[in-house]
Amino acid sequence: MQGLTEKEFREIRELAYRSFGLDLRPGKEALVNARLARRVQELGLGSLSEYVEAVKADRTGEELERLINALTTNHTSFLREPQHFALLRETVLPPLRGRGGVRIWSAGCSTGEEPYTILFTAADVLGAERIGALELLATDISTRVLDTAKAGIYPRERLEGLPPGWAQRFFQKGEGRWEGSVRVKREWRARVEFRRLNLMQDFSHLPRFRVIFCRNVMIYFDKPTQERLVARFTDRLEPGGWFLIGHSEGLMGVRHELDYVKPAVYRKPSRSALGGGRSV
Ligand SMILES: C[S@@+](CC[C@H](N)C(=O)[O-])C[C@H]1O[C@@H](n2cnc3c(N)ncnc32)[C@H](O)[C@@H]1O
Repeated sequence: MQGLTEKEFREIRELAYRSFGLDLRPGKEALVNARLARRVQELGLGSLSEYVEAVKADRTGEELERLINALTTNHTSFLREPQHFALLRETVLPPLRGRGGVRIWSAGCSTGEEPYTILFTAADVLGAERIGALELLATDISTRVLDTAKAGIYPRERLEGLPPGWAQRFFQKGEGRWEGSVRVKREWRARVEFRRLNLMQDFSHLPRFRVIFCRNVMIYFDKPTQERLVARFTDRLEPGGWFLIGHSEGLMGVRHELDYVKPAVYRKPSRSALGGGRSV
């Protein structure tokens, strides 16, 4: 396939922005071309314009999903950006020990390492008898990553650097053809509700959460999209609830109603602070 034309880039850009908020700035032409050329070929199409038409015509939404998978990364790991899990362990969870219905949402959970790390941290803090109080929702736009997350199977090396005892407590070792892999034990997998959700679509039907993780997802969105999304996340937080983003992200230039706590950590003002002075 030839390099993509200005018109083709514009078409892909509009489609990606409209469908999943992806902000493909001018300058990303080579990336788009490199990532989509193979798919265009596989489908036996002659150009990216034809590909855009094929995506639009596909009522199953599968091709659209392939498109987002091609243009974004699903990179993640257990205990990624460990400061957030230290915050959960030391500050967020201990006061909730006596409470029922502690809801946490991992939005843009990719292959599951993030929600499982949340779960294992909560199991440490709440203990086996109170872990039932945790309601953990994990969502992503991509069914491909969600399938991996639900299966909970990972190469054994991914466990390196995890707290002592986690491997034994939460994972089973693969044998035979699964040698070299580990799997999150069934009873722990069952504690996470994995669901497909495009963050560009309405989620006001969800309950309110104590903590929302949306890390390394908004990097793909432009400021107006981020602003609208942060407002919708804020609406889904309990008063005093926590909003966690990736450390390489920031809400600079995004208007929001959250209190800044420290890098990558924000908090919804508690009820008593609403209307009056703000406190963290
Ligand atoms: C880089 S991964 C981040 C995974 C994890 N949160 C972390 O920080 O390790 C970004 C994820 O965001 C998802 N994503 C991108 N756009 C999305 C959208 N509009 N709605 C829901 N998920 C989206 C991608 O499918 C991908 O799995």
